[in-house]
Amino acid sequence: MQEKSAKKHRFYRDCMAVFSSGHPMGEVMKTMKLTQKESMLLQDLKTSEEICIEKYGQYAQKAEDQALADLFLTIRTKEEEHLETINQLMQGTVPMMSGGSQGGQSSQPGNGKATKKSDSKTDEYLLKDALDTEKHVSSVYDTCIFEFTDAGAREALNHIQKEEQEHGQMLYDYMVCHGMCA
Ligand SMILES: [Fe+2]
Ligand SMILES: [Fe+2]
Repeated sequence: MQEKSAKKHRFYRDCMAVFSSGHPMGEVMKTMKLTQKESMLLQDLKTSEEICIEKYGQYAQKAEDQALADLFLTIRTKEEEHLETINQLMQGTVPMMSGGSQGGQSSQPGNGKATKKSDSKTDEYLLKDALDTEKHVSSVYDTCIFEFTDAGAREALNHIQKEEQEHGQMLYDYMVCHGMCA
């Protein structure tokens, strides 16, 4: 009888040790285990974001209109945040997404300035290429979202995809405002 009670005591002591020792069950941070497919998709998304960062950096230097250079740099900052999120997901950490997309400075065409026609062929090419890239990246996210089992991961990817659409809108608005057809 006494032995039974000692056994019970040991059991409770072991349980307490598990919960107080940083065992995953006791941790607050949300983590997930990635499937092989999810890891491969994240690697593709990481490459896409790295290309976007590189591209917007180069395009900011090539742009003839300073306002366009600034726009490219603004988008580049968002791409760096996307890469950070993808890196976290690759490590199995599900980032907490706050509210709507943060990049929310929804682009007023020309930031309120009057339409001014641009005849820069360089800027037009950069814009068309950037817009094409955004369309492609957005569709890759769209496909990937369905492949993830974790709801938090899907939410994070959905958040990024929304921001890619906003980038497309910002580029499109600039083009319309400067008399270029997208
Ligand atoms: Fe991105
Ligand atoms: Fe983007």
